[in-house]
Amino acid sequence: MPRKAKSKPLLGLDVGSSAVKLVEVRRAKQGLEASAADLRALSPDVVVDGAIVDNLALASSVAQMLKDSRVHNRSVATAVSGNSVIVKQISMPAMTEEELAETIEAEAAQHIPFERSDVHMDYQILDIKDSGAMDILLVAVKKDKVGNYTNALSMAGLSAVVMDHDPLALENCYEYNYEPAPDEIAALLNVGASVTNIVVTKGAVPLFTRDVSVGGNQYTDALQKEFHLSADAAEAVKLGRANGDGVDESRRLPVLQSVTKLIVLEVQKTFDFFRASTNGQRIARMYLSGGAAQTTGLKDTLQEEFGEVVDFLDPFRRIAYPDNGPLAEAIRRERPRLAVAVGLALRSFDDL
Ligand SMILES: Nc1ncnc2c1ncn2[C@@H]1O[C@H](COP(=O)(O)OP(=O)(O)OP(=O)(O)O)[C@@H](O)[C@H]1O
Ligand SMILES: [Mg+2]
Repeated sequence: MPRKAKSKPLLGLDVGSSAVKLVEVRRAKQGLEASAADLRALSPDVVVDGAIVDNLALASSVAQMLKDSRVHNRSVATAVSGNSVIVKQISMPAMTEEELAETIEAEAAQHIPFERSDVHMDYQILDIKDSGAMDILLVAVKKDKVGNYTNALSMAGLSAVVMDHDPLALENCYEYNYEPAPDEIAALLNVGASVTNIVVTKGAVPLFTRDVSVGGNQYTDALQKEFHLSADAAEAVKLGRANGDGVDESRRLPVLQSVTKLIVLEVQKTFDFFRASTNGQRIARMYLSGGAAQTTGLKDTLQEEFGEVVDFLDPFRRIAYPDNGPLAEAIRRERPRLAVAVGLALRSFDDL
């Protein structure tokens, strides 16, 4: 869970189901600069449904990546995802911070569908109204899930100092890079391999988050079924890299579009719910990240369906990096997939 300013920089480590990503950021003369950014693909049986199944495979990929990136820092900020994490915004009446600390436990019990002894819990004051009433962000994570992550990371010689949640790390990445005005409402969409995180933010406050089980894998599966391809061939067709598979553009696009429609539907549902619960506040912009956000047609379709300005989120908008060399190449190649890892690395600088 997010914690305040650390004296030593933390490595941002995003363990996704398709790849593990690493980002290190440090203070420069002006602002921040990236000192490492890398990604290692994971085979599909390493991380399944947000849980690390093959600790050894993950640990060895991470260890190799640290070695290749010449990273010596061993303290990480990482994130758990999926349904063993509960993020809820709740309202509390006016009270002192000490009183809040005492009463939050009882209040939280009503919002968390797990046994209290099974979860780590944390909270953050989002807003204090003129009346003194407070909006609180409550985060609870199942202890076994955290144990699962810390065990795998310790095998790679790392210690997890911060345990965050994908949507909140994404919000943190957006907040630092885009410095939104306090009442600016934006939707952040992180389209990964197995999960799409949807976050609606007002200024720097995550108002609403939702994880949907759709992403890049679904595009690949649809192509595989439609054209009777192997998983690898379907992935290549999806990325537009396949030659000679007999799947030309006119047959590929409708299949991709059928999955894009599912994503659009989930975004629509989320927006409807958001509008209904906030008296119709308008979402002004949408920012896309995650590997599958680059799928042919997705960005344009979202733009057409919602009429909002849709952009790719640039996780390095306000973070400097060298003009060339391996670090620059990794950032340019993997930029959309590094948003969560950047948000995690930025936890070291929560005082900025
Ligand atoms: N250029 C591209 N066009 C379309 N899809 C892409 C492209 N590059 C990567 N992808 C897809 O993006 C997905 C990986 O994205 P990402 O790294 O964000 O996922 P992840 O974090 O590993 O997954 P999750 O968070 O869902 O566990 C894969 O399905 C991959 O096929
Ligand atoms: Mg991911």
